[in-house]
Amino acid sequence: MPFRLTRRAWMTGAGAAALAATAYGTAHTTVRTSPPTRRAATGFPDGFRWGTATSSYQVEGATQVDGRGPSIWDTFAREPGRIRDGSSGETSVDHYHRYKEDVALMKWMGAQTYRFSIAWPRVFPDGRGKANPKGFDFYDRLVDELLAAGIEPFATLYHWDLPQTLQERGGWESRDTAEAFGDYASRVASKLTDRVRQVFTINEMQTFVEQGHRSGVFAPGLKLDGARLNQVRHHAVLAHGLAVQAVRASGRRGTRVGPAENIATAVPAIETVENIRAAELATRELNAPYLTVMMEGRYTDAYLAAAGADAPRFTPQDLKTISSKVDFVGLNVYAPSKYVLASEAAPGFVEVPLQASHPHMASPWLTLGPEVLYWAPRHAANLWKVKDIFITENGASATDEPATDGTVYDVDRVMYLRNCLMHLQRATDAGVPVRGYFLWSLLDNFEWADGYATRFGIVHVDYATQKRTPKLSASFYREVIARNAPA
Ligand code: FCB
Repeated sequence: MPFRLTRRAWMTGAGAAALAATAYGTAHTTVRTSPPTRRAATGFPDGFRWGTATSSYQVEGATQVDGRGPSIWDTFAREPGRIRDGSSGETSVDHYHRYKEDVALMKWMGAQTYRFSIAWPRVFPDGRGKANPKGFDFYDRLVDELLAAGIEPFATLYHWDLPQTLQERGGWESRDTAEAFGDYASRVASKLTDRVRQVFTINEMQTFVEQGHRSGVFAPGLKLDGARLNQVRHHAVLAHGLAVQAVRASGRRGTRVGPAENIATAVPAIETVENIRAAELATRELNAPYLTVMMEGRYTDAYLAAAGADAPRFTPQDLKTISSKVDFVGLNVYAPSKYVLASEAAPGFVEVPLQASHPHMASPWLTLGPEVLYWAPRHAANLWKVKDIFITENGASATDEPATDGTVYDVDRVMYLRNCLMHLQRATDAGVPVRGYFLWSLLDNFEWADGYATRFGIVHVDYATQKRTPKLSASFYREVIARNAPA
């Protein structure tokens, strides 16, 4: 779908042309810029943690069960033409009722962690005020099941399913929504952090803000420009900061909290010291209204200059809140945003266009560039001195046609993952502090505006029967986890 081409390239101009060719699957050149560590060159560091990720609206279903309130995705999916196959998350893969079977699958894989999200309207049907105890009960059951299986829960507070009532009061255009998010974070923290010790605030601000409020292809389907869009961006980072503070204030001591952001990543087209520096500079600017302001506590000069009179309205205190200290940074990493070379002219880098022949996975936006798994965490570590990084998402849409024996031999996904993991291991070998990896996704599920037409799971779901069948990639991942190395 053409709109997906721009999904991860909000400042880069249109899609494919924004990226440069690089041979898929070729061995990386090892220009080491950090000293090699004591780790064996064949695997990930001891204690590296493996898991899978999902999100509430994409897997839970049960949208009208046990007092859950409506979310903006329920509303959006009902509008004709919004979802490619006219579907919604109403039933999805029924994780709400089948979570035990799903946890058993994780256990079979050997996963040590699971990243799920809490549906805000399930626990606060109106967004604020009265809690829905039955909603909390579900997360209690899920967490207990995970812990009994020896799998550590990592909870994301917001993966895009805003309570509809808050949208009606202005949604992310209103500062009240950021404040409501802080209150919600505080109440979830007091309820769950006796067992959930790791919390992500917001999943991919960049995606939900840009796709939901600029291009309008995601809920709530708005096409704002100028000042209004910049204000939404500001409220999203403010909400993150308020949630960090809320988790610290209301969570059990030692609860760890941070963002899960899809950092837009510039990759040096050729690895020279100058080009690497240029790629860092470009990455800092590409993320100016998101990760950069969260890490630095200021909007970059270039961002403010480009915004001009449309710059967001904010106070110095906002910037302090936004940059509240986090315990880790989660990075969702799929494809490079740009390939760059150094330039003597401002802004210090030029973009290398992507060739039309450049390959991609089943989703056109998912161009192949597995080296981004090296550069994204390395840039974050270098630019902002981040000490603990998780890859909170990485994965691929693939062909996924079951063979006559019923198995999905998703060799294309296996190749994608293997290459990504080799580049990620290059990062850990070089001392980049990546502590764990969450594969997107455990199961096929509702892929937003693509509906069920695009599958990202390593476990196939027959949507008519809800039967789960591990794909070849699930066996591959099981092997990776067992070896603690790309398999
Ligand atoms: C990420 C989203 C996730 C899923 C994957 C494919 O941007 O966070 O929900 O859609 O892409």
